[in-house]
Amino acid sequence: MQIFVTKDYQEMSEAAADMIVDLVEEKPGCVLGLATGSTPEGLYAEIAKRHEAEDIDFSRVATFNLDEYRGLPADHEQSYHYFMQKHLFSKINVRPENTHVPNGANPDAQAACDAYEASILLAGGVDLQLLGLGHNGHIGFNEPAPEFPKETHCVDLTESTINANSRLFDSADEVPRQAYTMGIGTIMAAKQVLVVVSGEDKAQIVRDAFFGPVTPEVPASILQFHPNAVAIVDEAAFSLCG
Ligand code: F6R
Repeated sequence: MQIFVTKDYQEMSEAAADMIVDLVEEKPGCVLGLATGSTPEGLYAEIAKRHEAEDIDFSRVATFNLDEYRGLPADHEQSYHYFMQKHLFSKINVRPENTHVPNGANPDAQAACDAYEASILLAGGVDLQLLGLGHNGHIGFNEPAPEFPKETHCVDLTESTINANSRLFDSADEVPRQAYTMGIGTIMAAKQVLVVVSGEDKAQIVRDAFFGPVTPEVPASILQFHPNAVAIVDEAAFSLCG
């Protein structure tokens, strides 16, 4: 795994946007795996800026998001569909029919997850998967567990994730208890993985995930085995390493 340390969040966002824009220019029909959360907001803003200023064309790009809450329709303000629409899709010329997020409104978990996994394969697999890093080492909604889950599946969210995500809802009670997420196998099948991490509160998990033992108790640690993984980490998040 290659790790780049940046001065701050803005520099991290610009460096990550560079990688994504370079790929889109090199391969206009590429398949991007995308993430939600606070960390990628800055890099999505950078991508939108470059689309505007440099006319970067996303019309042939396909996107697949990592995850979605089970039970939230696409137009719910806290759904990941909504997040993507607000922060990226509405700001670039990606075609709506080329954007994919697991269907949280489908109550049939098996059908929703199987269909999602099949659509990724049909698109030819993910060229670059963007990831954020949870405080407990989760990637997507793959929480610490005795084994690495392989494919897109339905998960029960942990208390720590429910509490962390409750900042975006009126109360913790309103956070859905389940989500559909790409599995670790789905993520590892991406040709390239790009993890972005910012802030001192992530320093311990950066050390554990990128320099500690590879274990499903720290799901992101598996990325150490990915043949083409890049982490862009700001100085605060890297402060317990090296
Ligand atoms: C979001 C996702 C999550 C986040 C992680 C970090 O689609 O899959 O794994 O990447 O929870 O979230 P932030 O960036 O808000 O710290």
